Amino acid sequence: MRRSRMGLLSLGVTVVLLASSACSLGETASSDQGNDKVEVFSWWTGEGEEEGLEALIDDFTTKNPGIEFINATVSGGAGSNAKQVLSTRLDSNDPPDSYQAHAGLELTGDIQQDRLEDLNALYDREGWRNKIPKGLLEAITVDGRIYSVPVNIHRANLLWYNPKVLANVGIGEPPTTWNEFLTQTSVLKAEGITPIAVGPLWTQKQLLETILLGELGAERYTGLWNGQTDWRSPQVIKALTTAARVFGSSDVKNSSGDWQSSMDRTIAGEAAYTIMGDWAYGYNLRKSLKYQTDFAVVHSPGAKGIYDFLSDSFTLPKGAPHPKAAEKWLIECGSVDGQDVFNPQKGSIPARTDVDQTKYTGYLAEAMAEWQDPATEIVGSLTHGVTVSVELNDALDAILKKFVEDSDPDGFATSFMTAYAATR
Ligand code: GAL
Repeated sequence: MRRSRMGLLSLGVTVVLLASSACSLGETASSDQGNDKVEVFSWWTGEGEEEGLEALIDDFTTKNPGIEFINATVSGGAGSNAKQVLSTRLDSNDPPDSYQAHAGLELTGDIQQDRLEDLNALYDREGWRNKIPKGLLEAITVDGRIYSVPVNIHRANLLWYNPKVLANVGIGEPPTTWNEFLTQTSVLKAEGITPIAVGPLWTQKQLLETILLGELGAERYTGLWNGQTDWRSPQVIKALTTAARVFGSSDVKNSSGDWQSSMDRTIAGEAAYTIMGDWAYGYNLRKSLKYQTDFAVVHSPGAKGIYDFLSDSFTLPKGAPHPKAAEKWLIECGSVDGQDVFNPQKGSIPARTDVDQTKYTGYLAEAMAEWQDPATEIVGSLTHGVTVSVELNDALDAILKKFVEDSDPDGFATSFMTAYAATR
């Protein structure tokens, strides 16, 4: 295992919990009932991600012709609406057969509440343990148990732009640091171009995440979420000050729509840049845009060689009406075939290491090479569930909302520390 993968451990993604004993997946799977349909809950309705999901469903139904697939998607980027719907369903003991969740601390609440089946037996049967990078396995393991099946690896710290727009205003290259970005803003504004497009709160959080990463580096960034980095330190306050300036140059005050609108404004040249994960690659391809001609992407400023990762995974909730069919769905998600039909459309790379690499071209080939490069430093995404619990992420929403209005770095740092202490 590469050192950088092992480094995931230091993200604090492995937590120790006392999971209660429950009927094992093996017992559930031995039942003959409940194999005629499967309801799968996700938030993949946008262009690119919808086609990825459909490809996975097609492969699943070809292999499991007797199982009716119920596609329970709820639209809204990053699960902004889906998560509330899911939480209501789980609270009222009405779980879907499988639901989408991110690898990392996002699932700890559900695990603590004993809502998920332990999938260890399934991992053993399918031989998945040595097909998934060790660091990713650690991110989905809690107290020796695995509760989800990862279908991909996404990268969150990416800066998207239209090369023609930059060329038109005489900007040769996208910025390599946030300070460089800020020096470009006057040229852009003079041309009537918004320096950076941003959308709803979760996209603002992803922008903040990449600024903190770029300004602080991998180690200090990771320390923000595991208690090792002092939020009151001059470096963090300076990074937050930079963030306030970046937000000030954005269209946050009057933007509308989800992440796709920010991307559209960037491609159209109304904005110069937008920060988004690589699901945007799948989206842009579906729009028939040409990579490197109509759109291009680089790592976010200040984060060369750093891969801010997240992973979509699927679960088996306790009390799922069709557990045996759900297990078949999880097998599909964890399979080479499933990952190879899903990821090229979705704009992600596979979680498995033994896939058909020729299926990943353009940006995806570059992403795969960087993910596999031993020199790459891996950190976990804040916005997409890797580094903090749902509780802390929710508290952060209110803190960020205020920060975007008042641009007060000290206030942000103090409020975050309070929320951090309260949710430990
Ligand atoms: C993320 C998810 C991605 C993509 C994105 C935009 O949270 O992991 O797969 O769906 O939201 O909706």
